[in-house]
Amino acid sequence: MVFKYKNENYNIIRYPKSENRSLKPWNSADEYLIKYIDKMDLNIKSLAIFNDRFGFLSCILSELSPITIIDHNSQQKAIFNNAKLNKLNIPNSQWYSSLEPLPNTIKTGIIKIPKSLELFSLYLYQLSQCLDKELFVICSFMTRHFTPQIIKIAEEFFEQVEQSRAWKKSRLLILKRKKSFKQIPIINTVRFDDNISLQQYFGVFSSKKIDPASRFLIDHLNVSPKDRRVLDMASGNGILAYIIRSQNPEAEIHLLDNSFLAIESSKLNLNKENTYFHYKDNLEDFDSEYFDLVVSNPPFHFEYEINIEISLGLFKETHRCLKTNGRFQLVANQHLNYKVHIEKIFREVKIIAENVKFIIYECIK
Ligand SMILES: C[S@@+](CC[C@H](N)C(=O)[O-])C[C@H]1O[C@@H](n2cnc3c(N)ncnc32)[C@H](O)[C@@H]1O
Repeated sequence: MVFKYKNENYNIIRYPKSENRSLKPWNSADEYLIKYIDKMDLNIKSLAIFNDRFGFLSCILSELSPITIIDHNSQQKAIFNNAKLNKLNIPNSQWYSSLEPLPNTIKTGIIKIPKSLELFSLYLYQLSQCLDKELFVICSFMTRHFTPQIIKIAEEFFEQVEQSRAWKKSRLLILKRKKSFKQIPIINTVRFDDNISLQQYFGVFSSKKIDPASRFLIDHLNVSPKDRRVLDMASGNGILAYIIRSQNPEAEIHLLDNSFLAIESSKLNLNKENTYFHYKDNLEDFDSEYFDLVVSNPPFHFEYEINIEISLGLFKETHRCLKTNGRFQLVANQHLNYKVHIEKIFREVKIIAENVKFIIYECIK
């Protein structure tokens, strides 16, 4: 998709690509940010961009040498691809994670407000640690996603919080006069039964309790001592791997997730011995025929988008990485109707358990 800015055409594409033509690489909330910034006289090297999923903002504003906060491996690839496509120089040195201190030269933050408001808090917390008192932040969101909680969070960090008029069904929130920095907790504790508690950074999937689909899968997990190499695919805080470790202490366990904060959380929860953590959005680093068992509560949405293409891609890769007769156990919402897709990939598909909401499949290679 092409965006015209200051007489230049920017071609921005999604990564991974989607067959669904209604899914776009940016929306009017991104454009509103550009429109606003255009009116300002910004200093070079003073800008930090948050939640720029495909790199629209990082590419259009590349002349200002912004730093970009990267939360997802797919986001990093999308920005890299789009910079290359548009012959822009966006060096890795301008990329930061959401747990790193930012340079204290930052004067302006640009945030596309994420669906997880805990992640929004984490962004503001990270920004508020920059020394500059003049710091101000421009946030954008689609009007239909507004909740009063957004204002409440912003007011925890800034004295002045102003909402703009709506433009193309989006709005801005301008935050000024940073309050003095105060430490806030950025990790939640999630309890599982009476004796297990897991930790997870703000913004990681299912922050209040173990996801009911995962809980259902745990109740029906079928792990054998013969499962020497096991993968928890789309591992989040690592709950599935944690349970597998308790059932099979000798196994070599791998956890893989696209979210940096998820992988960092799982490192807090699992003992490092014979456990491997992969911050990746696909399985390309694994050899074919490597795993005896793969388990997953796979993703079917990203932010506000519902899209099973990503999971279907992961299922195909799972098939490649499984040994012959290896097993893939996954849980899904009944309405997703994965059966028709996985039957095309695996030799045999069995239903292990189901209830009104969820279904567990075991797929054999
Ligand atoms: C439904 S959650 C399950 C998390 C965890 N297993 C649990 O039960 O709490 C799905 C996870 O998939 C991750 N994810 C999304 N896209 C991914 C991809 N392309 N590769 C790997 N993980 C992905 C998300 O970050 C999220 O942590």
